[in-house]
Amino acid sequence: MSVATIGGDSLHIRDVHFSYGELNIFKGLPIEVRPGEFLSIIGPSGCGKTTLLNLLSGFLSPDRGEILLRGEPIAPEDPHFGYVFQQPTLFPWLSTIENVEFGMKMEGRLSAAERREKAAHYLAMVGLAGFEAYLPTKLSGGMQQRVSLARALAMEPRLLLMDEPFGALDAITRETMNDELLRLWDELGQTVVFITHDIDEAIYLSDRVLVLDKPPGGIYRELVCELPRPRSGPVTRTTELFWQYKKQLMADISQVSAKVGRFN
Ligand SMILES: Nc1ncnc2c1ncn2[C@@H]1O[C@H](COP(=O)(O)OP(=O)(O)OP(=O)(O)O)[C@@H](O)[C@H]1O
Ligand SMILES: [Mg+2]
Repeated sequence: MSVATIGGDSLHIRDVHFSYGELNIFKGLPIEVRPGEFLSIIGPSGCGKTTLLNLLSGFLSPDRGEILLRGEPIAPEDPHFGYVFQQPTLFPWLSTIENVEFGMKMEGRLSAAERREKAAHYLAMVGLAGFEAYLPTKLSGGMQQRVSLARALAMEPRLLLMDEPFGALDAITRETMNDELLRLWDELGQTVVFITHDIDEAIYLSDRVLVLDKPPGGIYRELVCELPRPRSGPVTRTTELFWQYKKQLMADISQVSAKVGRFN
């Protein structure tokens, strides 16, 4: 693996309890993520995946328990993470490069020239050199999601939170984006917490996959993905080991979905 240029932080989720009023979502959730690990989380709709990301970002606070980043409690006001949503959520009136610069501008740490240079760098990294002046509406869905990724990366977070970032893309574009993401992660080295409904995507990308249980159940399964890296498209996806993991996770999802009543 190449030397990581950003690096990642450890994440400790200890005994986290969280409810929305009467609705218990987590009751003593434990998750440990090592620095630079790629962790995916799958589970039925409504099991608390987005809630978990919101706890990790500090948008929500646990009722009990603690969430530590590099051993320190997370501070919501501290921009400790990059977040990539299912939809690109770009400002339609700003150009591609202005969208990428936006967070840096809000932060106010860099000069205009430095911001521009960094934004151009990350746009090139996601394969969008030459599209700096385009408005988002002139880009395809996959390209828009690359802009969102560049926007998150430009803040150089050591923790990347991704909530089904490729869920709205067609299967071929999604596979391309998976490879692009792995290439970037290999180079930058962040800790990634990635939510997906797609079992193949979770296995292909991750060091480890967690299946969330019906609330307030916590973790139903932990699967360590020992597929060799770099992962290489169809070769990886057609190995016996990949297939074994897939069978296991399909069975798990089916069990949990039966408890919850639906899965999407
Ligand atoms: N702000 C809120 N207030 C009350 N209940 C909420 C709130 N947000 C989510 N919930 C409930 O908490 C549960 C978990 O929601 P969450 O959005 O975390 O699920 P999810 O696993 O991300 O689902 P999906 O796969 O559909 O995105 C759901 O039953 C949902 O209705
Ligand atoms: Mg969700």
